[in-house]
Amino acid sequence: MTVKIFASALEAAEALAAALVDELRVRPHLVMALPTGSTPLPMYAALRRTAADEPQLLAQARTFNLDEFAGVPAGDPASYRSYMERELFQPTGMSARQVGFLDGCADDLEAECDRYERQIAGAGGLDVAVLGLGGNGHIGFNEPASVLQARTHITTLEPTTRLANARWFGHDLNRVPHRALSMGVGTLLGARRIMLMATGAGKRRAVSELRSGRVTTQVPASLLQCHPAVTLWLDRDAATY
Ligand code: GLP
Repeated sequence: MTVKIFASALEAAEALAAALVDELRVRPHLVMALPTGSTPLPMYAALRRTAADEPQLLAQARTFNLDEFAGVPAGDPASYRSYMERELFQPTGMSARQVGFLDGCADDLEAECDRYERQIAGAGGLDVAVLGLGGNGHIGFNEPASVLQARTHITTLEPTTRLANARWFGHDLNRVPHRALSMGVGTLLGARRIMLMATGAGKRRAVSELRSGRVTTQVPASLLQCHPAVTLWLDRDAATY
């Protein structure tokens, strides 16, 4: 595991964006798993700026988002799909055929999870998975549990995760879904490279546990220690332990 520590959250996010840009210049057909959350916002801002100067940068890339809320329509401003449309897809002109997304309102959610796995496999698998980190050690929406799911699945959100996500729902906890769809840990570990970003003191404990040398399903991110090509992009606050 490679660890990169930056003076600020902004620097960490911009450095990660620069690394992705380098990768995209070499491999324009890059297949990326992408996160939502507050942490990656400056990364998407940096990607938008670079793509404005290099319109071809993302023209052939494929993306698959890590997760989506169950029961929230794609067009709802609180959906992760809407977040991605705002932050990356629309400003950079990415087309629908480049974008893979879980439909949290599909009639059959289990079939939707299977469809997503097939779509990722059909794209040749993930070249790079860019991940955030939950304060409780979750990756995507793989929550701490005695058993984790390998593949894309329906997951139940922890109270702390619902609270952390209330900001996308006007801070109204009653509106935050109890369930979500998420890539599984096997889907993520199948990526050829993993880049995880974590910033702020609220992530310090989870970062410490994910580097502890112990692997436990109670800290899903700790499974990343089994992957041969993981880089952590941290600011000082998340890295001090
Ligand atoms: C959500 C997402 C995760 C993300 C996490 C951290 O729960 N499902 O993929 O990593 O939030 O978000 P933030 O960056 O806002 O702390």
